[in-house]
Amino acid sequence: MAVTRQITKNITWVGGSDRRLALFENIFPLEHGVTYNSYLINDTKTALIDTVDASVAREFLENIQQALDGRPLDYLVINHMEPDHCAQIDTIRMLYPDIKLVGNSKTFQFIRQFYDMNLGDSCVQVKEGDCLNLGKHTLQFLFAPMVHWPEVMFSYEDHTGILFSADAFGTFGAFQGSIFSDEDDYQEVYLEEARRYYTNIVGKYGPQVQSAMRKASTLDIQMICPLHGPVLRGEEIPFLLGKYAKWSCYEPEEKGVLIAYASMYGNTKNVAELLSAKLVEAGIRPVRVYDVSKTHYSYIVAQAFRLSHWVFASPTYNMGLYAPMETLMRDLQALNLRNRDAALISNGTWAPAAGKIMTEILGCMKDIRLVGDVLDIRSTLKQDQLPQLDFFVQALLESGLEVC
Ligand code: FEO
Repeated sequence: MAVTRQITKNITWVGGSDRRLALFENIFPLEHGVTYNSYLINDTKTALIDTVDASVAREFLENIQQALDGRPLDYLVINHMEPDHCAQIDTIRMLYPDIKLVGNSKTFQFIRQFYDMNLGDSCVQVKEGDCLNLGKHTLQFLFAPMVHWPEVMFSYEDHTGILFSADAFGTFGAFQGSIFSDEDDYQEVYLEEARRYYTNIVGKYGPQVQSAMRKASTLDIQMICPLHGPVLRGEEIPFLLGKYAKWSCYEPEEKGVLIAYASMYGNTKNVAELLSAKLVEAGIRPVRVYDVSKTHYSYIVAQAFRLSHWVFASPTYNMGLYAPMETLMRDLQALNLRNRDAALISNGTWAPAAGKIMTEILGCMKDIRLVGDVLDIRSTLKQDQLPQLDFFVQALLESGLEVC
């Protein structure tokens, strides 16, 4: 049975929710599933905006069939060619052989890479600013390269003020019956996962996101229809645009301390626990503590984008850095995250190397200000090192944190 939702009288959501997938992109844990959104515009001409992942293909096809109600499908607009959205292009072409595929030159390059498909004369290749008239509805195409693939484009529908934004403004999380952001408490239900989605999937491409946002700022946007997560309308639009402005500039959302520790036998953890307690006692909020072996790095990355200060605490391992800590820090580097204050705690029983390596990684990142000296621990923190820990706390307090 089809499960569709009306976005407007003539625009229908025809996507699906997947609650079974364990790892998005086979990397990122999904605790609450994910949606693959697709939208059908029913006008003089009909147009489908993107397809879906193979996992929800059956419901997607049933949804389209119901929404079309016997009409032909004239256009498939391909805003994004990643397989979680383009997996059904061949099926759609099989079911609607006269359909025209709308994309840009890169879109068609990627179609040929992903598919062995004879496109014949089915391609409508568009350029920046081109329009596709469907009747009352007209789609204007605005390229958003590297948000987060090179072929990505937004489609803006003038009649309704809807921005079809590809992956931008999306989030992890399957629908809970609601489809519009204001049908639920967006900040409570989606914000954490929207932040984790942006920072891990799109986070590397801040300047490109800003460029796309500058284009979007010239439009009268009434709704944003992303490819994942709820359709944004009302106050959630400026709210999420505000978050994107900070995330894409690598500006922290708030003052606070992220403590990410690695610990094999609890001794480095012990220092991290002591530090977190001292920071809170000193009036610092929020303080967030994560064990890098326990928490998937994508959650810690999201907090690293959110907070102004970082503390990394790690033992030495195989004369190098403990692997889960190295994964986290290298990922922060790969995502181009910058403009933070960072302090380091290094542990080693013999030939300690963690402090040096963590310092080197941070040294390869832009605008990372090291706070104080590396706090060196030999196996366990000793009573006579407590003054050093207090200096460490003091250095953090004097590095721009706000005491509440
Ligand atoms: Fe949801 Fe970039 O694919």
